[in-house]
Amino acid sequence: MREVFMPRKYKIKADFRHIERACLFNMGSILRQWLPNGKIQGGEYVALNPKRQDNSEGSFKVNLRTGYWADFAYDNVKGRSMISLASSLLKITGEENGGFHFRGASSLGKSTALNVASSILGGGKTPYIQQWRSTSNALEETAEAHNDTLLCLDELGQIDGKQAGEVAYMLANGSGKSRMRDKGGLRKKHEWRLLFLSSGEISLADKMLEVGKRVHAGMEVRLIDIPADTGKFGLFEELHGFANGAEFSRHLNTMSKRYYGTAIRTFIESLVGQDWEEIQKFTKEQHDKMLYACVSDHSDGQVKRVAARFALLSAAGLLAIKAGILPFEDSEICNAIMKCYSAWLQNRGTEGSLEIKHGVEQVVKFFEQHSSTRFALINAMNNQAGDVSINDAEKVISRAGYRRKDKEAKYEYLVFPAVFREEICKGYDARTILRELAKRGLLHTESDGRLDKNIRLPVEEGSKPKRMYHFSSSILSGGDTN
Ligand SMILES: Nc1ncnc2c1ncn2[C@@H]1O[C@H](COP(=O)(O)OP(=O)(O)OP(=O)(O)O)[C@@H](O)[C@H]1O
Ligand SMILES: [Mg+2]
Repeated sequence: MREVFMPRKYKIKADFRHIERACLFNMGSILRQWLPNGKIQGGEYVALNPKRQDNSEGSFKVNLRTGYWADFAYDNVKGRSMISLASSLLKITGEENGGFHFRGASSLGKSTALNVASSILGGGKTPYIQQWRSTSNALEETAEAHNDTLLCLDELGQIDGKQAGEVAYMLANGSGKSRMRDKGGLRKKHEWRLLFLSSGEISLADKMLEVGKRVHAGMEVRLIDIPADTGKFGLFEELHGFANGAEFSRHLNTMSKRYYGTAIRTFIESLVGQDWEEIQKFTKEQHDKMLYACVSDHSDGQVKRVAARFALLSAAGLLAIKAGILPFEDSEICNAIMKCYSAWLQNRGTEGSLEIKHGVEQVVKFFEQHSSTRFALINAMNNQAGDVSINDAEKVISRAGYRRKDKEAKYEYLVFPAVFREEICKGYDARTILRELAKRGLLHTESDGRLDKNIRLPVEEGSKPKRMYHFSSSILSGGDTN
């Protein structure tokens, strides 16, 4: 049987003291590389703090003998080693924060996956995995404590639906709320840079729906929803010799409790031993390859952002193979990531913008539900002026407009602009949705592209022209809502 997720070199530990000594020895050249705008003043290296847009140096200093450093403009921005300075300053990839969420029914192996992932970084007596069931304030502290590592959050279903979206935004945005000190002035905000891995039986969107909230596209990009059921053995596609998913899950849980916190040491050690620019070049290449494989010219920016997060994973996976940590072929990593990405995309239902998809769906739903109840039926009158008249056999309350038969004897719809904006398209940008509907041939526009048209009102209402939106009969079948 093949050992899975077992670091080959798990006995090797990164020697941080050795690394620190080496950094101190080469401090001059290292600082010139990390902080190229600095200068030596006495025994200190004084530079602009690149993490805030400083114009003149002053408060950010590194002691050239000890490696102690501080930004004296802040209480907590300081450290006592070159390693802590590196973690504060350096971003290998420049990618944004964000998370992945395994969503699916109970007992698929979702928490098992979190156990395995967390064992890369830690475990033992103190569980590395955290719970969603927490307040937003407490999660700020938890996130800061996981800065520059992975934050695992189990059971999304347990967080308050009202807080769920906000917390997803907060975690991905990398900073907590601004708060006042007791004696006045602002406290330093909690800040972090991390990826998070989450699990739960429901998605963020469903969680928010519980309290009548709608998930914004921005949130879904921040917490990427991956269906946990592969359709084979729950979360697993292969059992690696075990009799069933439950047994395999038990094995992984036992192993991740026995071996933990080792893979990350080897990973960091291998990164420290390599040329920084080479690593950046490698991750950039992986990023570009993955984007090339995943997105097309038509892909929306939201899709590209998600693909970039998957690309970051593939780069990290390939680096871990190089370091001898993962016993996989390169192609296995890339295929696995592509599968998760495709499952996400399929579930999302469009390569385009999610707001547009949801907005169009809402409009179509309105016509499906109210085509005969909110639109007064109008018939052409047999006179030369081309008048129309309301069919008074039908009483329409809260009218949204009119419907009439087109040349193929199918109903088309004339909609009052205010009703469209304030009700039919509520919550979405009406012009964007109208433009999309026109692009799909569901909205007839003026020849100059104007979205509303001059329509003659029925004789009962004065036969005057009024600007209205003119929807084709295909709006009922929904066109292609993708
Ligand atoms: N792929 C699987 N196939 C069958 N049973 C499984 C599978 N994975 C886990 N189990 C069973 O479910 C139990 C719980 O595993 P785990 O905590 O990983 O599931 P989960 O998906 O997080 O479930 P929940 O949503 O209830 O938290 C395991 O002890 C095992 O008995
Ligand atoms: Mg679970």
